[in-house]
Amino acid sequence: MKKRILSGMRPTGPLHLGHLAGALENWVKLQDEYECFFMVADWHALMSEYEDPSKISYYIYEMVLDWLSCGIDFNKSTIFVQSDIPEHLELDMILSALTPLGWLERCPTYKEQMREDKTRDLSTYAFLGYPVLQAADILLYKAERVPVGEDQKAHLELTREIVRRFNNLYGETLVEPKEILTNTPRLLGLDGRKMSKSFNNYIALSDSPEAVRKKVSGMFTDPNRIKLSDKGHPDKCNVHSYYSIFAPRVNEPKVDLGKLEGDCKQARIGCTECKTKLADMLVKFLSKISENREKFEVQNIKDILSKGTEKARKVSGQTLLEVRQAMKFILN
Ligand code: TRP
Ligand code: SF4
Repeated sequence: MKKRILSGMRPTGPLHLGHLAGALENWVKLQDEYECFFMVADWHALMSEYEDPSKISYYIYEMVLDWLSCGIDFNKSTIFVQSDIPEHLELDMILSALTPLGWLERCPTYKEQMREDKTRDLSTYAFLGYPVLQAADILLYKAERVPVGEDQKAHLELTREIVRRFNNLYGETLVEPKEILTNTPRLLGLDGRKMSKSFNNYIALSDSPEAVRKKVSGMFTDPNRIKLSDKGHPDKCNVHSYYSIFAPRVNEPKVDLGKLEGDCKQARIGCTECKTKLADMLVKFLSKISENREKFEVQNIKDILSKGTEKARKVSGQTLLEVRQAMKFILN
């Protein structure tokens, strides 16, 4: 029996290279070894996008298209949208009833988001409960493993605490999940800041070749290299970190990283040329994904999601029944 995985992403904008290198590639690899459930977390998206939720449905569609184009295989994995499955909110409510407020207020991601994101008011009731809904997502499928980034570790810990509390109160029912930490290369935004939707400093998986070239040409380079004759420091250059992350993923055009580093250090290559080559490489890399995109139509995506919903609901319905039975919170 394969172990089960659940993971999710929020449909709040186009997927970018950071999502690919940080999560999606890993999901693709896990598909053979695990029984995978991949969820579009649209309720979680609503928590931050509530002022204008009208784009969420477009992003759901685009996100699933990106997943499929990058190699998520709907014959192997179950793909579904959170809000299509009512059990998520039902279990969320049940778990909310037994989760102390202090656990949520202490959660580092909560405090950090409130501090960092000044563009919107996140001091809402739902946002405080973000990790409880995430716990419900995982626990409904009795997932033993959850592939997540470092930033989500606290949510997994909280999920385990909720499981222990539930099982103590009502008997062994829910399963404690462990994280699979994706050891991801740290990919910064084009401007050297954290890659983020609100900074608009990313290359989207669906960007056109022209957009990619324009974005790469505007990237920040080694700040100490002003003239062509100045020797460069590739280790301080964001263009170079993109090379080191993506060159191993591209066969054509082949990039000799060592030579490039030497050329930069000895001022044998200028930044403009260096960036043009990086753009060539990324355009090539993304062309495979965009070719795959063409293979799917709106109707395909709808069919894939409704098949996924059906499969997911069998599991979630069963778990919710067990939960209510354990609690003796059930109508006979
Ligand atoms: N919080 C996750 C993120 O922002 C998304 C998410 C929602 C998720 N539910 C989940 C991830 C369940 C893993 C498991 O990336
Ligand atoms: Fe960066 Fe390339 Fe310029 Fe060197 S040559 S500083 S690696 S952009």
